[in-house]
Amino acid sequence: MTRHLDDLDVDGRVVIVRSDLNVPMSGPVEGLASIFDERRIVASVPTIDTLRKRGARVVVLSHLGRPKGVRVPELSLEPVATRLGELLGAPVSFTDEVSGPAVQRAVDAAQPGSIIMLQNTRFDRRETSKDAADRQSLAGEWATWADAFVSDGFGVVHREQASVTDIARLLPNAAGLLVDQEIASFSRVLTDPERPFVVVMGGSKVSDKVAVLGHLLDRVDRILIGGAMAFTFLRAEGLQVGDSLLEEDMIPVAEQILADARVRGVETVLPLDVVIAREISAEARTEVVEPSAIPVGWKGLDIGPATVAAFADDLAHARTIVWNGPMGVFEVAPFAEGTRGVAAAIAGSAAFTVVGGGDSAAAIRKLGLDESAFNHISTGGGASLELLEGRTLPGLAVLEETP
Ligand code: 3PG
Repeated sequence: MTRHLDDLDVDGRVVIVRSDLNVPMSGPVEGLASIFDERRIVASVPTIDTLRKRGARVVVLSHLGRPKGVRVPELSLEPVATRLGELLGAPVSFTDEVSGPAVQRAVDAAQPGSIIMLQNTRFDRRETSKDAADRQSLAGEWATWADAFVSDGFGVVHREQASVTDIARLLPNAAGLLVDQEIASFSRVLTDPERPFVVVMGGSKVSDKVAVLGHLLDRVDRILIGGAMAFTFLRAEGLQVGDSLLEEDMIPVAEQILADARVRGVETVLPLDVVIAREISAEARTEVVEPSAIPVGWKGLDIGPATVAAFADDLAHARTIVWNGPMGVFEVAPFAEGTRGVAAAIAGSAAFTVVGGGDSAAAIRKLGLDESAFNHISTGGGASLELLEGRTLPGLAVLEETP
């Protein structure tokens, strides 16, 4: 059974907190990259703050990017440690190593209530090694000086990695507050959703979402499909879609999903109109047409206003909503209105609303929408998708085993 923060005795103990501080960074300032979007850092604060106030000697672990076992200066966690300290209103001392004597010295000197952050765990190749013995050797080094482990990096719980799973097997462990909150939100929609349950799916590829659709088909009442993936579904319905993005090999899969939905009485709603252009550019000339009327040389890049209105109507009647994936190329102004309109309809609904992380969460921020209008915006991209696929996530399963 998974334990929680309150179940751990932490006073004066060295507690490793695995956070997911893998935040988007932008160009170097004085040699170090700067933080572009700090939402994951903000989300990691409650657990770290709670432990520090309970007298723990906190050691924060995280990865940043995919450095594959080498030191990449732009992927140093140092700027993240600085920002975490500002958000906590408490010093976070940064140790520029993942393990070894410097880490040991820092931990030995740590006082109750203090916070240390170690360097990017993926600078050590053992962190992500496919060989369990490698991962265990790194986790074993951490376990020599730590008394407990708290798993709070929801975005990485789908990974079998030293700082996610192997360390949890060596120490008394618990889920952190963020992981608890993420699990509670996804469980609510997956196990006992209030009806009608409407899912909004977008993004570019059907192949990324097939497993999610397969798992949700037995649970939802209606599926609204936008984004470039809609063109593969429209093609499966026999329409020509001009030069819109298509996954030819996924057309039979899309056909099967539509057929399975019909059998289950789940309504799938495809775009009624689309915004088309010849190219993706802020200056592109656009037109709104029915999906069957996209000329060759033009591509659909957003859902149109009639689709937004139809989706908004469905969403207004929903009691549970899951949204995963943008409705168009929201990063480019002429193609942002579909995502904006659907996001606003979700935000305005009385339903319990869950936004899968990744691109949908990024869209909410980029479009300047009020994040507090959604019940839950996941901090996980791949992890939230795998939960929606009904998969067992190794970083969560390990917390159910007692070390
Ligand atoms: C994410 O951004 O989805 C997580 O931090 C996991 O990162 P990864 O895909 O590099 O393992």
